Amino acid sequence: MRLIWGMALVATAVSGCVKEAPVSGKRLFAENCAACHGEKGQGDGPFAENLFMPPSDLTVLSENNGGTFPRNYVISTMDGYARGEHFSGAMPEFGVKLLGEDVILETGEGVVTPTPQPLVALANYLESLQGQGS
Ligand code: HEC
Repeated sequence: MRLIWGMALVATAVSGCVKEAPVSGKRLFAENCAACHGEKGQGDGPFAENLFMPPSDLTVLSENNGGTFPRNYVISTMDGYARGEHFSGAMPEFGVKLLGEDVILETGEGVVTPTPQPLVALANYLESLQGQGS
């Protein structure tokens, strides 16, 4: 009997560690980005007028990149890891705040790198916004 209880406890402890459901990119965007970039990513969020630099229109990222969604650029822009030198600092860095479970991301040419799942979800969501601007 004691053994059975012990096994039940172990099972409970293990299931408690099962990772949470992946976060939705849409929700993350609404919570962390829309204030500046606008609900639809067009750079017209309510907070935009307080910034010294207008937030980018995120529906034209592919268009500005010769038709290809610049996934790596978007992810490094969010976490501040490899921002271009022109970058103003008007946008906060999200790496630490959004840090979640790492997933393995293929960054091209067979290179893979562990990337926090929320950043990947956000990048996927931004990709879905491409060409959706008015
Ligand atoms: C406090 C306002 C603010 C918030 C919040 C914010 N951004 Fe930004 N973002 C900016 C500004 C301003 C720029 C333009 C900065 C520059 O070019 O110097 C920018 C630029 C970007 C760029 C680069 C676009 C380009 O064309 O080069 C991406 C991608 C981006 N933001 C994504 C996001 C995502 C995703 C979030 C949410 C996780 C977010 N931003 C939250 C203000 C914000």
